[in-house]
Amino acid sequence: MQMLKDKIVREGIVLNDQVLKVDSFLNHRVDPGLMQAIGQAFAAAFAESRIDLVLTLESSGIAPALMAAMALGVPLVFARKQLSLTMRDDLYVEPVYSFTKQQQSQVAVSRKFLTEGQSVLIVDDFLAHGEAAFGMARIVEAAGARVAGIGIVIEKSFQSGRAKLTEAGYRVESLARIASLSGNRVEFVE
Ligand code: G4P
Repeated sequence: MQMLKDKIVREGIVLNDQVLKVDSFLNHRVDPGLMQAIGQAFAAAFAESRIDLVLTLESSGIAPALMAAMALGVPLVFARKQLSLTMRDDLYVEPVYSFTKQQQSQVAVSRKFLTEGQSVLIVDDFLAHGEAAFGMARIVEAAGARVAGIGIVIEKSFQSGRAKLTEAGYRVESLARIASLSGNRVEFVE
């Protein structure tokens, strides 16, 4: 997606050869016009898939996932990392390890918002090692629902996530694929 790649080149900050900071439009401040275009791109990519629900993980997945849900005309559910007092029972819970934060968290979705037979599009802001996407996929499958695909805003193709997800049989659609962050610059997969 050219608009996204241009934005990454203009505003992305390469912190080191593993991490790209995009807090000016995705992870802190959010660019609504860009999110809308991202949502439309996901909807177009999965137009043939009869999606019932978009699932993401709080917090940075919510903006692009909401726009995808809007474009597809379906609800959005975001998996929670913090369990509130009102979310005690009837949950699907899966552990997700974050390499970036080097900690494991439990992510949860209420059983009443994810039901058997649904076709689910998983959306996330970054794909690194695939831990978050696998965690969400396990939740979908625990519910007896089906993962129609995984939509990623920024994929770091030099890390292992895409290979592991496609090997496991999931369809991955990434709007920007980064081949390398070496030498302080962003190189995209052609
Ligand atoms: P994984 O899920 O693909 O295995 O990724 P990893 O554990 O490495 O990522 C953990 C968190 O760090 C995720 O956000 C992910 O989106 C984010 N992340 C991974 N690589 C990058 C990167 O290069 N740049 C930025 N800006 N973020 C990255 P999170 O902990 O769920 O945070 P948030 O959604 O609450 O913001």
